[in-house]
Amino acid sequence: MSRSASTDAAAERAARPLLEIDGLSASYGRATVVHDLDLTVARGEALVLLGRNGAGKSTTLKSVMGLEVERRGRIVFDGQGIDDWPTHRIAAAGIGYVPEDRRIFAGLTVTENMAVGRLPPRDGHAWSEAEIWELFPPLAAIRERRAGYLSGGEQQMLAIARTLMGNPRLLLLDEPSEGLAPVILERIAEAVGMLKSRGIALVVSEQNLAFVRDFADRLLIIETGAKRFTGTIADLAADPSIAERYLAV
Ligand SMILES: Nc1ncnc2c1ncn2[C@@H]1O[C@H](COP(=O)(O)OP(=O)(O)O)[C@@H](O)[C@H]1O
Ligand SMILES: [Mg+2]
Repeated sequence: MSRSASTDAAAERAARPLLEIDGLSASYGRATVVHDLDLTVARGEALVLLGRNGAGKSTTLKSVMGLEVERRGRIVFDGQGIDDWPTHRIAAAGIGYVPEDRRIFAGLTVTENMAVGRLPPRDGHAWSEAEIWELFPPLAAIRERRAGYLSGGEQQMLAIARTLMGNPRLLLLDEPSEGLAPVILERIAEAVGMLKSRGIALVVSEQNLAFVRDFADRLLIIETGAKRFTGTIADLAADPSIAERYLAV
């Protein structure tokens, strides 16, 4: 390939959204729980996926990662179709996933859990422990503690930290606020804002609108696995009937 052709290809890729989902349907056995869903995430954008329990938020994120669920439709990450890739290859391509149940290794220490998530550098950068302590100061003091002894908030920070060690370009967070105290939520929301300012794109599944207020660029509401609304927080606030209909407010 000539130099200009490869430069053109790079420019074309950079102009496209980082993640494009086109006509996603996802099923568990015979039950289809996500229907013909389209979404895009721009480079560096934070998209918040809102919806009540059972709406299909976790299933959508699992579909992106190629986990558990059977899916149909097109998923393109950074210009490459990933919908038939195995999970490890998707992670290696730069999508980090923090599951709802966090999956911390209780018998390993904080730093050992982080080491499990380590992948090669990307775009010339690899997250160091020092950068993680800067993002989540409470983890620094408990770095040698076994993760089974951590509070829920500390475990959530660790789950995000471990995923960051894979140097993702896109981070999928599944209901990070679930079950956490307000003071911890503030700290985690602030950390999400810092990740965004470092250029990491995010899809955050949530039910807690207050938690996402400071970092959400765009909201997408799903109900029974289908898109019902997309817009900004201001757009949502302009029509209170939308939140009444689709969110547990
Ligand atoms: N492993 C599974 N097997 C069968 N059905 C599932 C499974 N996981 C989720 N579901 C069903 O799929 C639907 C969407 O669930 P989910 O994606 O977990 O929603 P949310 O994350 O928005 O609460 C729900 O009806 C749920 O009961
Ligand atoms: Mg869920």
